[in-house]
Amino acid sequence: MSTIPRTHIQTQVETDLARRFPAHFLWGAATASYQIEGAAREDGRGSSIWDDFAATPGKTYQGQSGEVAADHYHRVEEDTDLMVQLGLGAYRFSIAWPRILPEGRGTVNPAGLDFYDRLVDTLLAKGIQPFATLYHWDLPSPLEQVGGWLNRATAYAFADYAEVVTRRLGDRVAGWITLNEPWCSAYLGYGIGVHAPGLRDRQAAIDAAHHLLLGHGLAVPRMRAQLATGTQVGITLNLNQIYGADERAETVRDMELAREFSNGWFLDPIYRGAYPERFFEHMGLNPPPIQEDDLAVIAAPLDFLGVNNYSRILIRGAQTQPLADRCESVSPIPNACYTDMGWEIYPSGLRDLLVNVERDYLVGNLYVTENGAAFPDDWDGGDTVSDPQRVSYLHSYITACAEAIEQGVPLRGYFVWSLMDNFEWGEGYSKRFGIIYIDYPTQRRIIKESGRWYASLLASQKGGKPS
Ligand code: FCB
Repeated sequence: MSTIPRTHIQTQVETDLARRFPAHFLWGAATASYQIEGAAREDGRGSSIWDDFAATPGKTYQGQSGEVAADHYHRVEEDTDLMVQLGLGAYRFSIAWPRILPEGRGTVNPAGLDFYDRLVDTLLAKGIQPFATLYHWDLPSPLEQVGGWLNRATAYAFADYAEVVTRRLGDRVAGWITLNEPWCSAYLGYGIGVHAPGLRDRQAAIDAAHHLLLGHGLAVPRMRAQLATGTQVGITLNLNQIYGADERAETVRDMELAREFSNGWFLDPIYRGAYPERFFEHMGLNPPPIQEDDLAVIAAPLDFLGVNNYSRILIRGAQTQPLADRCESVSPIPNACYTDMGWEIYPSGLRDLLVNVERDYLVGNLYVTENGAAFPDDWDGGDTVSDPQRVSYLHSYITACAEAIEQGVPLRGYFVWSLMDNFEWGEGYSKRFGIIYIDYPTQRRIIKESGRWYASLLASQKGGKPS
């Protein structure tokens, strides 16, 4: 890899930052199947709710889809070589349920398992620890046709699928994540319809969330029965630190409502075996169809919590109590900086979140399983993609992680979102999150300046030089 010349001062800054992390801290990057793989109709892959959603006019930016994406399915060697150049210790990817079980349950597609088997072996051969997410939103379409996550049977189908995958890969994958951001699957997908499957029914979001949680809880013991000792099982939640714009009683009240909606809805059942006490009332909705023992199943002990965080929420209390998902947040915040997603850059929000989640839920091991930023990147047509804003974003958020560790948080690793530019769901290819640039017409990969920066941070932590 040709490295850009770095000044002595820059290198010192990175060395100083790297030294704030324990020697065994895991540095990685993350992706998800539908966002990078492409090959949507190859080797027996069935269709998913995201294929269907993207094919529905008006749902994604310019009708774009993950049909080709970054063509990772055909570029595993090249992409894992790039991970080596970056010096990654771990790679978080997701497994496409419809590649493994095209109908969602029943007959296994061996070619689907073979693909991930090869990926895992390639990673291990290159010295990178695989972290696999079982569900990053691509529910097989046949399951959606019978109600998707509104149907309790989907939770059982998920646990069966989890067992199929772990039976094959459980001896080699270091970390397992059952679900990625079930809040998004439930609320964005079933509640307000901006994600697949596109329903707009807030009660459906509550019910879908319960079945997602149940699927997670049912899967955990089924997975553990297949896994090598020392393998870790966890879940990844998107969480936000809530702040108040002032100290009025209304603001304090609404901050708590926003915290329930944003974090407690999933953290409480997983770590306390109960939904926040008045959450459904605060949403103005009915509780989901909870059956006996569901909450005990959902609270299955975990080895780690994965936290995805990009920004924070700043609440301004309303005069009359709002529904929990309709609290007023200040936006835009005067003098604040925003990414291309319109998300405020607020690194201490990640520090405070990690500190508070550990304090309130005693989760034990934590990983930041996603953090990163979209910016409109500038490729010179050659070997250089200059993205100084992403360098500065990553620097500030990684510093916040160091601060959390210094405050006693058992943070074990950090994964940048994302390894490479990809299909950003409803935003299509209009947002670039990668530390590797993808020139979609040619599928050429170019390590961005932020990727080089990350490589030098990782190298200085190992006490070496980037390759
Ligand atoms: C998260 C998703 C991930 C990506 C980032 C930007 O919510 O898990 O797939 O889209 O946001």
